[in-house]
Amino acid sequence: MGLPKACACAVLWVLSALEACALGSYIAAVYEHSVVLSEDTEVPVSPEEALVLMDKNMAILEAAIKEAARQGAHIIVTPEDGIYGWVFTRETIYPYLEDIPDAEVNWIPCADPGRFAPSPVLERLSCLARNNSIYVVANMGDKKPCNSSDPRCASDGHYQYNTNVVFDSEGKLVARYHKYNLFVTEKQFNYPKDPEFVTFNTSFGYFGIFTCADILYHDPAVVLASRFQVDTILFPTAWVNTLPLLSAVQFHSAWAMGMGVNFLSANMCNSTLEMTGSGIYAPEGPRAYYYNREMENGHLLVTELSSHPRLSPDYPAAVNWKSYASRIEQLPSNNHYFSGVIYHDTFSFTELTEPEGYCSICQQDLCCHLSYKMEEKQKDDIYVLGAFDGLHVVEGEYYLQICTVLKCKSTDLDTCGQPVETAQTKFERFSLSGTFGTNYVFPEVLYSGVQLAPGEFEVLTDGRLISRTSTSKPVLSVTLFGRWYEKDPPHTQQVSP
Ligand SMILES: *[C@@H]1O[C@H](CO)[C@@H](O)[C@H](O)[C@H]1NC(C)=O
Ligand SMILES: *[C@@H]1O[C@H](CO)[C@@H](O)[C@H](O)[C@H]1NC(C)=O
Ligand SMILES: *[C@@H]1O[C@H](CO)[C@@H](O)[C@H](O)[C@H]1NC(C)=O
Ligand SMILES: *[C@@H]1O[C@H](CO)[C@@H](O)[C@H](O)[C@H]1NC(C)=O
Repeated sequence: MGLPKACACAVLWVLSALEACALGSYIAAVYEHSVVLSEDTEVPVSPEEALVLMDKNMAILEAAIKEAARQGAHIIVTPEDGIYGWVFTRETIYPYLEDIPDAEVNWIPCADPGRFAPSPVLERLSCLARNNSIYVVANMGDKKPCNSSDPRCASDGHYQYNTNVVFDSEGKLVARYHKYNLFVTEKQFNYPKDPEFVTFNTSFGYFGIFTCADILYHDPAVVLASRFQVDTILFPTAWVNTLPLLSAVQFHSAWAMGMGVNFLSANMCNSTLEMTGSGIYAPEGPRAYYYNREMENGHLLVTELSSHPRLSPDYPAAVNWKSYASRIEQLPSNNHYFSGVIYHDTFSFTELTEPEGYCSICQQDLCCHLSYKMEEKQKDDIYVLGAFDGLHVVEGEYYLQICTVLKCKSTDLDTCGQPVETAQTKFERFSLSGTFGTNYVFPEVLYSGVQLAPGEFEVLTDGRLISRTSTSKPVLSVTLFGRWYEKDPPHTQQVSP
């Protein structure tokens, strides 16, 4: 099957021209937002009143978008619930919703405002993107009429979805994504019938999008990263920090590394709800991140990222997560074990009683192995090695395999696994591995003050998470967070109200 020569040349020329225009890197922005909340979300308001609140939030987002554009950003991500806040009922969220068309309709709301049903929010976001020549990612509510011909349709005659929208730099709607894994408290929204795998292409890479709790599950998150092979994930979130293993910056940067994608995470900030922690993460490690429990105002992060991280010489090689650990024959012998609870899961723990040494612990089919040396063990710092292999069942059901080294909250062993934010002990070295049954493992290293450790650790192809240098700060936790998706129960669907 030969092409005529002239034609083959033309094809080659077009391809290389495309390649020349495509960018090797781009500038990404995420905005951590302190949302202006409605005074009372229990009482329904008029659409006009709803818009007043949403305009207050969009005015704050507008300043962030303008500043990001001024700094040369190609794209900015804003948080989940960032336009209207939280704690609504199905009825009280309704005046905030707009009927958002599919991106296929090819619509620039800013240039063609009357084309569909009234959509002041879509129009303003589209104009913000268009006027500032920047891609804008935002989270808002979608409503879709339905009737009794559809057995899933609620009696109020519509679906309500937690929705991300993306506008390109001309203001065109290029993506619409309905959140698939709602958090248990989101009674105001419907689950979409099937997961949506939403992607779009730009001159600076191939993008996928999902929202908040989606990151814990297979669909659509893992599919976008491993089957679609997107370059960058866009992630609006309203994430409540859950130490010791699930604080925002810790888990989101670990997911980016474990899945080998760029990850743009925009969180809300609210100190009462323990929400803070946004970041721009590359597969090799965090490029920029923000965590601040004291401040209640917004924060913009802007930094450069590779457009196609898989083509970069620094791209991490594939890991066989159990290779090293499964060759270790010596099983835990005379250790003292005890149980402790991390976010409702009962871990098996063993204390690191010596300032250096070797230690291991097993639970079910998972054995965790640690070799370590502390720089100078502080008397008040108790560390344990822990293992968990089982189904997590609170606020969502998902199967976990976790190996973790963590600092206990106090010298009382009963506090091991409880949230703690500070430590005093630095480590000269550590090497953690486990006999994982899954290929999906997210490596976390967290320092005192809930700080990340960019460049200070790496994952070897045999599955060891090792320190590269002695740690620059005291260690809170070092964790291999495994997700065994095949063992998850079927996806839950909310019954229509
Ligand atoms: C966009 O620019 C137009 C024309 O300059 C202006 O009327 C409009 O208010 C701007 N909108 C936004 C949201 O920036
Ligand atoms: C009910 O919904 C279906 C599907 O959306 C639509 O085709 C039909 O016209 C609707 N029927 C009525 C009575 O509105
Ligand atoms: C976008 O680009 C990716 C990778 O280059 C390609 O696989 C995908 O088919 C493209 N998608 C569209 C909608 O053009
Ligand atoms: C944080 O959220 C809580 C609960 O919704 C709210 O009462 C509080 O006012 C919020 N804080 C700020 C600074 O908005």
